[in-house]
Amino acid sequence: MPKVFHIALMPGEGIGIEVLDAAKAVLDAVETRYGIRFHSETIPGGAHYYREHGMPLPRDGIRRAAAADAILFGAMGWPDIRYPDGTEIAPQLDLRLQLDLYAGVRPIRTIPGVPRVLTDPRAAHLDFVIIRESTEGMFASRGKGEIIDDREARDTQVITRRSTERLTNFSCLLARRRKATRGTPGRVTLVDKSNVFRSFAFMRKVFYGAAAAYPDVDARHHYIDAMALDLVRRPWDFDVLPTENLFGDILSDLGAGLIGGMGFAPSADIGDEHGVFQPSHGSAPDISGKGIANPTAMILSAAMMLEWLGERQQSDALLLAARAIERSVDIAFGSGKIRSYDMEGQHGTTAIGRTIAEAIRSGEADLA
Ligand code: NAI
Ligand code: MG
Repeated sequence: MPKVFHIALMPGEGIGIEVLDAAKAVLDAVETRYGIRFHSETIPGGAHYYREHGMPLPRDGIRRAAAADAILFGAMGWPDIRYPDGTEIAPQLDLRLQLDLYAGVRPIRTIPGVPRVLTDPRAAHLDFVIIRESTEGMFASRGKGEIIDDREARDTQVITRRSTERLTNFSCLLARRRKATRGTPGRVTLVDKSNVFRSFAFMRKVFYGAAAAYPDVDARHHYIDAMALDLVRRPWDFDVLPTENLFGDILSDLGAGLIGGMGFAPSADIGDEHGVFQPSHGSAPDISGKGIANPTAMILSAAMMLEWLGERQQSDALLLAARAIERSVDIAFGSGKIRSYDMEGQHGTTAIGRTIAEAIRSGEADLA
């Protein structure tokens, strides 16, 4: 009997539900083509769930999600539905804390055929990864900020040795693996603001201390403001970019902008025990319900899930399937067969999911 992989599906709301449906069609094709079996369980949650039930997730939601082999997540949050303190319902942030998902992995890779904002020919082959620390930094202040007499507000950043060390280890191991499998330079660049803040000077010191254990990795640093400039000016020079939570939040949107927008930017939140895989975008109320959301980011996140699971569970079938999804995406867009609405095309969510699933089912993506 083949092993059955247990996947928790958390569609959330808005286009989260729509793009996750498209990813499910792709996973169905993977089952057929690669003889892999998935057992999936859907867990509701989000801002609309909160409005109805007074809590963002079912009481046993996180426990059920944690029991699965991996979690595939759409998007949660809705601008008009808020907690009494004015902040948004964001169970994805709660998951990061409760499952200790410290590494927010956001690959920025050019997909052939997708219009690019940078005209330099080197922009046709961007391939770098932002690693957003996801358990502390500025976000340590979430829910704890102070407002003093309606006159002054304070949020405090936290950087710990433990999180910086594990962020560095994760980044160095990733750079090493990428060098072996993709021929990238094996370079890790910490993005900080250590010229001004003690917390960042500490982060940099701990980073170099931990990176010393990886003599084959080229460890460097860059200031966040200079990085905002250089990710536009020469993004092809970067490889693995670990950074503080809020900086990573902002830089990953900039990165998505370089490869065609949020609809193309996948992500994974990884810890030592669990992994949550989700597009970098949110629930997009402005286009929700129209069937025009681009599911590519979600589908590539599902590929990241299969790669992570394949490595953990030593399943070659999963690793092959992960690569096939990536290639099917490249074939669908590179051939011009698919043009999503966010690239001024006319293919909706379902059509894109179906085309990518078909490339997998037919074996078109196996070799290439
Ligand atoms: P958003 O990512 O939902 O949308 C930003 C812009 O990008 C919008 O114009 C949207 O139409 C477009 N866009 C996003 N994904 C797209 C796709 N797949 N295809 C085509 N266009 C796409 O960010 P926004 O508007 O700031 O947030 C909306 C809600 O989502 C908020 O409640 C926010 O808190 C939540 N959110 C949730 C996230 C999560 O669940 N991980 C991440 C980011 C935001
Ligand atoms: Mg963000």
